[in-house]
Amino acid sequence: MKDTYYLDPRVAAGYDAEHEGREITRDDVPFYVGLAKGAAVQGQSVLELACGTGRVTLPIAAAGARVTGIDNSPAMLEVARSKSSGDNPRWVEADMTSFDLEERFGLALIPFRSFLHLLTTEDQKACLRRVHEHLVPGGRLALNFFNPDLVMMAGWLGARGRTRRLVEKQGEVERWERARYSPSGQTLDYEEMDERLSDADAVISRVYRNMRLRYVYRYEMEHLLALCGFEVEALYGWFDRRPFTDESREMVWLARRRAIPEQ
Ligand SMILES: C[S@@+](CC[C@H](N)C(=O)[O-])C[C@H]1O[C@@H](n2cnc3c(N)ncnc32)[C@H](O)[C@@H]1O
Repeated sequence: MKDTYYLDPRVAAGYDAEHEGREITRDDVPFYVGLAKGAAVQGQSVLELACGTGRVTLPIAAAGARVTGIDNSPAMLEVARSKSSGDNPRWVEADMTSFDLEERFGLALIPFRSFLHLLTTEDQKACLRRVHEHLVPGGRLALNFFNPDLVMMAGWLGARGRTRRLVEKQGEVERWERARYSPSGQTLDYEEMDERLSDADAVISRVYRNMRLRYVYRYEMEHLLALCGFEVEALYGWFDRRPFTDESREMVWLARRRAIPEQ
C-alpha cells in the first residue's frame, strides 16, 4: 500500500491534538525557535521543510522571524493556513526534494523526523542539495530524527511485527497498530487500522493507513551532510543540547553550509 498518510484530511485534522503534550513536541519548539531568533537578529529569514500544520512554524513567526514553510500535503497546509493570517508565515506546497524558491535563507529546519520520509539515498541527497542551494553562505541547517533503537526494533522483528495491537479505544472506534522493521532496507512500516464497532461489537467500517520511514544511522548522516556541502557543527542527544550518547533517543543535528566539494 502506498504511503498516503499525511495526504489524508482526517490525519491532518487530528494531527495537532494527537501530538500535543508529548515530551518531544514540548521540547523541540524552544530549540528551533531559539535558532530562528538567532537568524532573525542577523536579518535572515527561516525555511522550514515539511512544516505540516505549522506546529513549529507558527511559534517561529510569533517570535518575530520571517519564515516560509513548505510541505507536499495540501491537507496539512490547509490546517496550517487556517491557524494564521497575513504573509508570515508564508506557506508553499512543494516537495522537499525539488522545491525552488526565489528567496535565500539564513536557517533551514527539518523538525520532527520528517527527513525520514525520504526513502532513497537519491531523495535524501536531492533534499540536502536543495537546502544548500537555498541557504546563504554560512547558513545553518537543523534537523532531528530518532536514534534507531536496536532493542525496540528487535522486539518488532519476530511475531510481534506480524500482529496488530490495540492502542486505544475512543468511543466506538478502536485503533490497532503494527510496526514492521526491515533491517536490510532500513525501513519502518507503520500501519494503523481504525475499526468502528456497533453496539453489538460488530465491525461497521475499517480504515487502513500506512506510513513508511527510512531510518538513518549517525555516520550515514555525517557522510550525507559532507557529500551535500555541509559541515557538522554539533550532534546533540536532545533539544537541551545534551551530548549524543548510547542512551540518546534522538539525534539533533546542527550543520553549516560550506562550498560543495568537487565530485
Ligand atoms: C511528522 S510530520 C511533521 C510536521 C511538522 N514539521 C511538525 O513538526 O509537526 C511530517 C510532515 O512531512 C511532510 N512530508 C513528507 N514527505 C514530504 C516531502 N517529500 N516533501 C514535503 N513534505 C513532506 C508530511 O506531509 C508531513 O506534514
